Amino acid sequence: MTVQHNYSLLAHNTFGIDVCCHTFIEYASVSEAKELAQMLKGQNVPLLIVGGGSNLLLTKDYEGMVVHSVIKGYEVVAENDDNLLLRVGSGEVWDDVVAMCVEHGWYGAENLSLIPGEVGASAVQNIGAYGAEASDLIDKVEVVSLCDGSCQVFSNTDCQYGYRQSKFKGEWKNQYLVTHVTYRLKKTFEPQLDYGNIRLELERRGISAPTAQQLREVIIDIRQKKLPDPKVEGNAGSFFMNPIVCREQYERLLDQYPQMPHYYIDENHEKIPAGWLIDQCGWKGRSLGKAGVHCNQALVLVNRGGATGMDIVNLCEAVRQDVKHRFDIQIEPEVNII
Ligand code: EPU
Repeated sequence: MTVQHNYSLLAHNTFGIDVCCHTFIEYASVSEAKELAQMLKGQNVPLLIVGGGSNLLLTKDYEGMVVHSVIKGYEVVAENDDNLLLRVGSGEVWDDVVAMCVEHGWYGAENLSLIPGEVGASAVQNIGAYGAEASDLIDKVEVVSLCDGSCQVFSNTDCQYGYRQSKFKGEWKNQYLVTHVTYRLKKTFEPQLDYGNIRLELERRGISAPTAQQLREVIIDIRQKKLPDPKVEGNAGSFFMNPIVCREQYERLLDQYPQMPHYYIDENHEKIPAGWLIDQCGWKGRSLGKAGVHCNQALVLVNRGGATGMDIVNLCEAVRQDVKHRFDIQIEPEVNII
């Protein structure tokens, strides 16, 4: 276990915000996670568990303890003719896992290519893109309890996954350190091409039956065109969640905006892309101080250079107010604001 004090979090958040925490601890094994749980027992310090910091907006120095897994490694723990179970350390980089799966011919993760962040966070945040979600793949999540230092295993159902949601973000918040995630991958490639412009992009390349590697490349290409590279312009991907509205409101809006994109949820609800709502309000490409709205995807707020966390929060509030005023829809940040 490594323990550091008055530690800069600059390298641990993709928004590129330079604030410090009182204590920064990294655990590299299950036994170190247990040791950490023992150390924290009975202490009443504020706790922030981070992965790659790609869904995090830090607004001030953190007067508590920031905890990060650096548990590495992966192993195939079971397999049959159809699928296999891959157990991965929570500190592995998510996209390295996707790349490795594609290389080995283990399928199902391709559409989640290039999502920033780490394996532990994939199970907490239920990362998703292009019609796939981590929860489609997660078989189980191994954790160490911060209450008593015991090891526990949760099934996919136990975690109650939803759109960017899990029990780890609600009832179980700050109660467990994720140590390993086991994913169920397929041995047969069944590409999911129906979301967004995947098919269009494949056609453009003259590919009718893509390999997993080709699909991964197309997804990477689409993401790189739309989403800013955090190394160039600090950001945390989608800043807001796509709001779900009731059918009545959706129909009213559709009358007014027949071009409005939307996704069916159930007979009473429809999901509207927050990026479209923000774009309609004229925010795309605009800035407020050193914070801005990305020019290719209005769902992403960016650090134009030297922004503070509060600069981003101020922009977030201005955008929310405009969307509320124009559409009577309250959009909520997906990013964890600390
Ligand atoms: N749109 C606009 N203007 C914009 C942005 C979007 O009109 O500035 C429209 C698009 O034309 C499209 C619709 O809104 O019709 C949806 O846009 P897009 O397909 O780009 O996806 P999204 O709903 O904005 C979601 C996820 C992304 C994920 C993509 C692809 C959320 C909050 N975001 O974005 O996830 O990559 O779908 O599956 O669900 C992330 O979580 O960090 C993230 C990037």
